[in-house]
Amino acid sequence: MNKTLLIKNIGILQTPIGSESHRGEKQGENIKMNDAAILIEDGIIKEITENGQLPSGAENADTVIDAEGNLVTPGLVEGHTHLVFGGYRQNEIPLKLAGATYLDILKAGGGILDTVRKTREASFEELYEKSEAFLDEMLALGVTTCEAKSGYGLDLETELKMLNVVKALDRNHPVDMVPTFMGAHAIPEEYKGRADEFIDLLCNQMMPEVKKQGLAEFCDIFCEDSVFDVAQSKRYLLKAKELGFGLKIHADEIEEIGGSELAGEVGAISAEHLIAAGEKGLASMAAGGTTAMLLPATSFYLGKTFAPARRMIELGIPVAIASDFNPGSCPSLNLQFAINLGYLRYKLTPEEILTAVTINPACAIGRGERVGTLEVGKQGDLVIWDAPNMEMLCYRFGSNLAMQVIKKGILV
Ligand code: NIG
Ligand code: FE
Repeated sequence: MNKTLLIKNIGILQTPIGSESHRGEKQGENIKMNDAAILIEDGIIKEITENGQLPSGAENADTVIDAEGNLVTPGLVEGHTHLVFGGYRQNEIPLKLAGATYLDILKAGGGILDTVRKTREASFEELYEKSEAFLDEMLALGVTTCEAKSGYGLDLETELKMLNVVKALDRNHPVDMVPTFMGAHAIPEEYKGRADEFIDLLCNQMMPEVKKQGLAEFCDIFCEDSVFDVAQSKRYLLKAKELGFGLKIHADEIEEIGGSELAGEVGAISAEHLIAAGEKGLASMAAGGTTAMLLPATSFYLGKTFAPARRMIELGIPVAIASDFNPGSCPSLNLQFAINLGYLRYKLTPEEILTAVTINPACAIGRGERVGTLEVGKQGDLVIWDAPNMEMLCYRFGSNLAMQVIKKGILV
């Protein structure tokens, strides 16, 4: 028996169109259908109508939801998280308030390395339960697809444990998960002063094992002053490419050391952060077709400036916005807050922002064919907002405006 869901009385149904990332002027291209309805059958969008028309077969729908004139968009696609981790790091805040920087804390063996210790100690079950609760919260905030990185193990056993948590969540939780191996997130204490040897270990042992077990689709590295330099990042990413992974790189988050240039050069699908990215790096990304995965809540939390998003759009770089949820630089998983910051700080339009939290991140995590827009044949993932239009969603902040979240045609 086919299961059908009808959502009717949609004030505005707003969505980008297509299965490819949108850049330049296309970043702001959304279609808006008034007085719309959508029919989902067995989790897939069957028909969309507007101007008060109902889809054929609407009268036989198993479930009917009245959107009461509100805005409907595709489910949000969260393109960058560090979802799985042991412990928290609230102890760092007084240090920061006293003047210590993010990298000062990391260099002193805290920061990511502190979370590594706690994640190594945590059991699979502990990590699973904690991450599952985060995902529940994300889903309630409108996220229906989520990328998650490893990178708090920095040894094979713990990296596999983290990736297996992501795999189990993908199986059991309504949110679809996309796993990324980020073994190169920091130099572990046992490799202090031997970053090149650690890169050897990642390339020769950990990455091939992750590939063999089919536990990740992408590889990511933290290319940063006093973490991994450009040469090390290049070696790691080229090995990942050879093994068939998609490439991601945390680039120019704090210092501009050439990460965004490398991203374009190696054909990375996305470069993350880019707060300090300069013209050369941006030109390289534009040439390489690399998506800018921007993380405005991290700028906010680190007290940094905001990435040059308008310039990126001008240069034809697809822009995506994600939360960067992690226990250090952004302990918030609220993508709606990132939407507010995208509007006020990046000065993107509501249409550009919708693209940045749907189809562009979907493409940057390899899901553009399946999710990220509301079109016939795509997955029935959508949000009914407690808002009449995108402007309201961009303007209000601090409240959860996701009223009803539909995942594969089911109200969750
Ligand atoms: O994207 N910069 C590297 N990774 C994360 C932070 C991780 C952490 O501090 O635990 C980020 O900001
Ligand atoms: Fe990150």
